[in-house]
Amino acid sequence: MTSQPFLPFALPDLGDDEIAEVVDTLKSGWITTGPKAKRFEQAFAEFLGDPQIECIAVNSATAGLHLALEAIGLGPGDEVITTTHTFTATAEVVRYLGADVKLVDIDPKTMNIDIAAIEAAITPKTKAILPVHYAGLAVDMLALLDIARRHGLRVVEDAAHALPTTLEKELIGTLGSDATVFSFYANKTMTTGEGGMLVTRNRELAKRARVMRLHGMSRDAFDRFTAKVPSWYYEIVAPGFKYNLTDIAAALGLHQLKRLPAFQVRREQIAERFNDAFADLPLILPPQAPEGDTHAWHLYVVRLADDATINRDEFIEGMFAAGIGCSVHYVPLHQHPYWRDRYGLTPEQFPQSQKAYERTISLPLYTAMSDADVERVIQAVRGLLA
Ligand SMILES: Cc1ncc(COP(=O)(O)O)c(C=O)c1O
Repeated sequence: MTSQPFLPFALPDLGDDEIAEVVDTLKSGWITTGPKAKRFEQAFAEFLGDPQIECIAVNSATAGLHLALEAIGLGPGDEVITTTHTFTATAEVVRYLGADVKLVDIDPKTMNIDIAAIEAAITPKTKAILPVHYAGLAVDMLALLDIARRHGLRVVEDAAHALPTTLEKELIGTLGSDATVFSFYANKTMTTGEGGMLVTRNRELAKRARVMRLHGMSRDAFDRFTAKVPSWYYEIVAPGFKYNLTDIAAALGLHQLKRLPAFQVRREQIAERFNDAFADLPLILPPQAPEGDTHAWHLYVVRLADDATINRDEFIEGMFAAGIGCSVHYVPLHQHPYWRDRYGLTPEQFPQSQKAYERTISLPLYTAMSDADVERVIQAVRGLLA
């Protein structure tokens, strides 16, 4: 055991500006969805650099995915194809709407959804494809969108890990899918504590998602009480949800978004330092983004190579003994009782995901780490494997 303080797997990086903005919000009298949530949506659209894009702030990525799938009309009898190597939120939203999930394996090089397997999984019931940009590395969206076009399918991107990921120099969120959803959960590349952003160029989809975000109301509270002609009147046009982002959360988002470019520089620095330091170890290092593109480095995921002398559990225990938190992304969906039993899934159906799972460790990589923290992780990993 070490005498050093525990280094957690993830920590948020919140500065004085975020704190001051939250205090300002608390003092402003408007603490639920209001002017700051609106400003955050505008700032996010500016960040994406596309005036045609509509940004809809929500209280989680899970909510955003649910709204996007609801807005494309997903329902009972439909199927959505997604990766088994993801967090359950990606798939559970499909079940919220009574549709079914068709899980497919990953490409072992990228750990992203296997593009060829998507095409093989399409049935007459398939309505949409739901790719996940795993760890912050873009899915080959050009190939995926081509499949979707040829088969008349909708595409909703789970970009919980993918801010600011690029593909062919275009930011994820600006490609040609129906909608993209980002997460601002506490451990993400920027955070609002809990939060998310649904992004789309489809005006109808945006309109539906805005209404369903707040109870299916024709006008939200901010709109009603601040419009030129204030009005208490609203109409319910559908049984909507309670998915709005508060101004307290948006206050964090406004400043986190400003800091995102600097965060990205630091994440890349740490990833490069890890890559150099681990090059000679029995590890499969994370895949790199193609030349000229950005990997968001939400996660730094290594896989133990065949010649490693310890297994994943021993590795994680060794890191813990050195006072360092690690994680595993993910226990694949096909292994969880709910998904396994509902669809009669076995590990043999997902050999690449299963193999990755058995060897995968996510190491701490976040901007609140000091250089000394980074070196400490390196020393601990080398101590276990060198
Ligand atoms: C791949 C993926 N999708 C969706 C989510 C859900 O995000 P949120 O916690 O903002 O609902 C997460 C959260 O960790 C995730 O990792």
